[in-house]
Amino acid sequence: MTFQGKKHPMARRRQIYEGKAKILYEGPEPGTLIQYFKDDATAFNAQKKGTINGKGVLNNRISEHVFTLLAGIGIPTHFIRRLNMREQLIRQVEIVPIEVVVRNVVAGSLAKKLGIEEGTPLPRTIVEYYYKDDALGDPLVTDEHILCFGWASQEELHDMADMAIRVNDFLSGLFAGIGIRLVDFKLEFGRIWDNDYSRIILADEISPDGCRLWDMTTGEKLDKDRFRRDLGGEVEAYQEVARRLGLFPEGEDSAVLDLESHRKRRGK
Ligand SMILES: Nc1ncnc2c1ncn2[C@@H]1O[C@H](COP(=O)(O)OP(=O)(O)O)[C@@H](O)[C@H]1O
Ligand SMILES: [Mg+2]
Repeated sequence: MTFQGKKHPMARRRQIYEGKAKILYEGPEPGTLIQYFKDDATAFNAQKKGTINGKGVLNNRISEHVFTLLAGIGIPTHFIRRLNMREQLIRQVEIVPIEVVVRNVVAGSLAKKLGIEEGTPLPRTIVEYYYKDDALGDPLVTDEHILCFGWASQEELHDMADMAIRVNDFLSGLFAGIGIRLVDFKLEFGRIWDNDYSRIILADEISPDGCRLWDMTTGEKLDKDRFRRDLGGEVEAYQEVARRLGLFPEGEDSAVLDLESHRKRRGK
């Protein structure tokens, strides 16, 4: 491969943070970062670890697509543009240490905790908050805790909940249109500062890693529960989501993944 006429792709960038699924690098301009999507998968607070070949490529594409659509309905997001198969340019934010979970159907920890059968539709949407702390196992917290410990202000909390509901309404419709039930999902938000003022924007990613997506007719799981529950076919499920979203015209999907595995084999 030649880099003629191109900048060297990975020219000594400073790594800011390596998480479970992504790496953040310093961006080309102040206030920007590069978000690199890995194939690493973790579950149950990283007690279970694995790799899903090609997941990073798919999540990068899916998240780009969803964030672009959300920007189109007026949700402010950190997404600037996708740079390549695994990377996107984003605005650097000060992450609010709260995971906002929106639920439409009982599943996962809610089913377990309350002993309600998975798949039970909720009569109204539930918004939950989890304190982002791996050592504590991301405990469920209430708005009282969030305000008391200063993780977010009342106004920020209101903005996050409001955006979470708008995202849910939009994405529920988007997925329903392609035969997928949006069971639940997780969002992360961050602050951007403008002198002494800050505002909240949507950050991180929206992908099958952080959503429960069930096929509407078969009930098949098209998300990270395939990995959590050892169901197999993870990458095929993520690919199916991408395909239904219209992200792989003309069988481009296999081409993308082939190229990736080819690179891996060559150790690049
Ligand atoms: N725009 C952003 N600016 C700064 N940090 C971000 C931004 N978007 C996401 N993050 C943070 O970057 C990390 C992404 O990597 P990830 O592998 O998901 O980490 P983690 O293991 O902490 O979940 C997360 O900690 C997330 O909160
Ligand atoms: Mg994460």
